[in-house]
Amino acid sequence: MTLEEARVRHKKLVQVIQDHDCLYYQKDQPVISDAEYDSLRQELERLEAEYPFLITSESPTQKIGAEPSSGFKKVKHAVPMLSLSNVFEDGGLHDFIVRVKRFLGLNEQDSLTFIAEPKIDGLSCSLRYENKKLVMAATRGDGAEGEDITANVRTIKDVPQQLPEDAPDIFEVRGEIYMRRDEFAALNERLAADGKKIFANPRNAAAGSVRQLNVEITKTRPLHFFGYALGVVKRDFAETQQEIREKLKKFGFQEAEPSGLFDSFDDILGYYHAVGALRPELPYDIDGVVYKVNRLDFQERLGFVSRAPRWATAHKFPAEQAITILNNIEIQVGRTGALTPVARLEPVTVGGVVVSNATLHNEDEIVRLGVKIGDHVVVQRAGDVIPQIVQVLTEKRTGQEREFSFPATCPVCGSLAIREEGEVVRRCTGGLICAEQAVERLKHFVSRSAFDIEGLGDKIIHLFREKGLVKTPADIFRLEQINKTMTPPLQEWEGWGDKSVENLFDSINARRTIIFNRFIYALGIRQVGEATAKRLAAHYGSLVQMKEAMVAAQDRDSEAYGDLLSIGDIGPGVADELLGFFAEAHNLEVLAALEKELEIMPYEVPYKVDSPVSGKTVVFTGTLTQMTRDEAKARAEALGAKISGSVSKKTDYVVAGADAGSKLKKAEELGVMVLSESEWLELTT
Ligand code: IVH
Repeated sequence: MTLEEARVRHKKLVQVIQDHDCLYYQKDQPVISDAEYDSLRQELERLEAEYPFLITSESPTQKIGAEPSSGFKKVKHAVPMLSLSNVFEDGGLHDFIVRVKRFLGLNEQDSLTFIAEPKIDGLSCSLRYENKKLVMAATRGDGAEGEDITANVRTIKDVPQQLPEDAPDIFEVRGEIYMRRDEFAALNERLAADGKKIFANPRNAAAGSVRQLNVEITKTRPLHFFGYALGVVKRDFAETQQEIREKLKKFGFQEAEPSGLFDSFDDILGYYHAVGALRPELPYDIDGVVYKVNRLDFQERLGFVSRAPRWATAHKFPAEQAITILNNIEIQVGRTGALTPVARLEPVTVGGVVVSNATLHNEDEIVRLGVKIGDHVVVQRAGDVIPQIVQVLTEKRTGQEREFSFPATCPVCGSLAIREEGEVVRRCTGGLICAEQAVERLKHFVSRSAFDIEGLGDKIIHLFREKGLVKTPADIFRLEQINKTMTPPLQEWEGWGDKSVENLFDSINARRTIIFNRFIYALGIRQVGEATAKRLAAHYGSLVQMKEAMVAAQDRDSEAYGDLLSIGDIGPGVADELLGFFAEAHNLEVLAALEKELEIMPYEVPYKVDSPVSGKTVVFTGTLTQMTRDEAKARAEALGAKISGSVSKKTDYVVAGADAGSKLKKAEELGVMVLSESEWLELTT
């Protein structure tokens, strides 16, 4: 094939696949079989592997999943839609109960009632009623903004269009849209008979049916809804979660059953096992049960952390398992240089999904499992997590199995791979010279929760890195300038054109302004996830101040170090990672280069209330009697205050409980306002 022929064929394939995607996803009327579709995609992938220059951001290979961006309108949620934390084992459940009690200042023996109900596997949806009429239904989306699926949701029989007279004027119900097992099976039979693609499981079927652009198709799909929580609602609507369930039922909603009220660990666990035993007989797929603190005033005090409420958690059922053969072990290199062994498996269906890879986590895990290449292994899948190998069936060994020895060098760049004392992970020491690490860092940098640069897909990043065009994040923002003097310019590369290059630069330039928390997250510092990045951004305010603080905090005896540790969720481990990052000269160079290219906007603490303490720096000291220190801090933060661990001239208030010591003294010396616990409560409630 000549280059020109390849280019023509590529263009054709992209066009044809896009058309089939549209027929499948949007019109729900595929005209070719799955096998035919797959072979088109494979041809495209082969072509792009051979001629990487042909790849454009429009290519179906560059899209995450095959789903084209939807035609639904975006809607902001009045109250964010949260997800749930998980516990997997009895110990996890016990810790959850203890944590909640401790936060509320209760003793372990004090009783606290939880309501438990099944966790149905579907997709979450928020319904808004105004003057008792359904006016809006939205998907969760990223929690802050979802998609308007009102027309489709109106076709679901379980969703009342109209609420009774005694319902509040403004009322938002959150719940799950799902499909029953029998109806799912019947739908798949129908689809198969019509030669259409079938769904892998009821969850996908429900999601696929709701996200149809053609409401006529949704109408034919057997969808259900049950309510599990409220969004915007007036304060005195109910006093307990149980009462919410009862009122929802009166309003015509379905509720997940069986449910129950429990106040001891043993009873909760008993419920969990009872529902687990019922699981095969339930008409719908459930992946666990959910426990919620029953009293709503407690729920309010507990609030949420990151994206999940502190007052609820999901207790998952054990995962589904299958037996297969481990064909090989390969090493992947991650963003932080971690070498992760990945098992390549003989494909096997586990809980309705074909699995061909599983993570082996790290070196020790291979030793712990005693796994050899060629072994029969038990693989397990739980929820959306990466499949794992849980057991080796040694009795099936034939003697042909091979021992795997973990490499001491990086398979990508050849640098030494070192395992620090006390660490489980072996890391490549190549840093930025390791192509794979650099690529993974760049991928993280442009990912959705970070810089969110559209059109810079994995393959393009690989390509740019290979060509030496983009080595560090700052290079992304210099690309347009460099391209002006490059021969040949990007526009003339195979597969690119004026339009695709213009689009790429447009999407890069659109991100020259970035909010500080996203910026911090994008740096990819170990252990600094989105929530920690937000806390850091709120605490330090600007990159300049954060850098200053990080330099000062290198001295572990400094006030700056104490201040860093006072930020919620930041312990010595995270602090080490942060300080390590800021101690590296090349990281500081990258930061300086980025600062030249970007405008970094301050992070606005969300849902900021106009409270007397918003924006104020507060230090708690001594013993509080009305609530625990953690609760006091969380509440102050929710009111927009910044919590600090040490008193300085910048401190606005020191809240002194009983037996306050040196901090109180320092506050008095500096003339900082000191409040007693009750004065503080008066100010903030
Ligand atoms: S309560 C504030 N209850 O599971 C969030 N969620 O994995 C309260 N889910 O986002 C959620 N069954 O979409 C709750 N009985 C149940 C549920 C349930 C399914 C979903 C929900 C949530 C997801 C978290």
